[in-house]
Amino acid sequence: MKDNLILAIESSCDETAASVVKNGRTILSNVISSQIELHKLYGGVVPEIASRKHIEKINQVVEQALSDAGVTLDDLDAIGVTYGPGLVGALLVGVAEAKAIAYAKKLPLVGVHHIEGHVSANYIEHPDLEPPFLCLIVSGGHTHLVIVEDYGKFRILGRTRDDAAGEAFDKVARAIGLGYPGGPKIDKLSDEGNPDAIVFPKAKIEDCPYDFSFSGVKSAVLNYLNGAKMKGEEVNRADIAASFQKAVVDVLVEHTMQAAKDFHMDKVAIAGGVASNKHLREAMEKACKENGFRFYRPSPIFCTDNGAMIGVAAYYEFMKGTRHGWDLNAVPNLKL
Ligand code: KG4
Ligand code: ZN
Repeated sequence: MKDNLILAIESSCDETAASVVKNGRTILSNVISSQIELHKLYGGVVPEIASRKHIEKINQVVEQALSDAGVTLDDLDAIGVTYGPGLVGALLVGVAEAKAIAYAKKLPLVGVHHIEGHVSANYIEHPDLEPPFLCLIVSGGHTHLVIVEDYGKFRILGRTRDDAAGEAFDKVARAIGLGYPGGPKIDKLSDEGNPDAIVFPKAKIEDCPYDFSFSGVKSAVLNYLNGAKMKGEEVNRADIAASFQKAVVDVLVEHTMQAAKDFHMDKVAIAGGVASNKHLREAMEKACKENGFRFYRPSPIFCTDNGAMIGVAAYYEFMKGTRHGWDLNAVPNLKL
């Protein structure tokens, strides 16, 4: 049978990315042009700058993805693209690029939900993984605990009530002067700190055991910093980073284990940018082992935003018959 080749494009936030995926799970190329250096100057992603950079880079990134894969536009079977959720101006660049290629080459167009992409990153390196399984999705904009009932079919068990997990990492990092993006910096600095030095609160939500809340722990860190400042005391940033991270990781692991037991899931996966956090990976692996669950996680490069995960999700959508028309638009608040 002829191989299925999908070119996938991702531009929902601050990475311009493209990938060619063969038969759903084989990544022929994965090109990511990061804008981190630009946004770092402002302490966070500036939407207009992100859109402008995407439009500058997109053709180059697509060209590179095709050439790394050793294919041309004529070899493709479909174009996949993230159409939401994300920054509207950023999404529009990828959507317009995908539509232009699909139109010129008369190829099917498959719009992909960004979060479905993150979950699908788990299929890349785990050929045995198939739904159903439990997945914790932790990114800069989202925190969801879902049962993946089938490819692209989710039952949402819990979500954050306020900040996303990655957002909390970024805000705390900024407060302790680590800069943007904060997640990887807290991850690294924590290695030098004592996670039991400070007890930060772990929010539990009455009657919703699978929901999350991270604004409390973030405020507790800010209060701790203010208190020390008032008293003129020096703070140990590594201890703060490690203690904050422990409070977040403990809650993520506890809720995930509870859901796996309650819903009789024997496979547990993690996804999204925060899933590249090594303390979360270790803690989740340990808890899964203790409870007899199989644990799945993408390599860090497939946890943060990339085109490969969108290509994998696009393949399963394509096989189900999903096709988008020439009126496909960016949907910044697209629901899962
Ligand atoms: O999935 P992603 O690349 O973009 C969104 O869809 O939001 O996630 C980005 C988020 C940022 O908040 C970043 O600080 C966080 O993931 N992140 C991490 C780590 N690497 C990225 N958080 C904790 N530890 C990390 N190693
Ligand atoms: Zn993402």
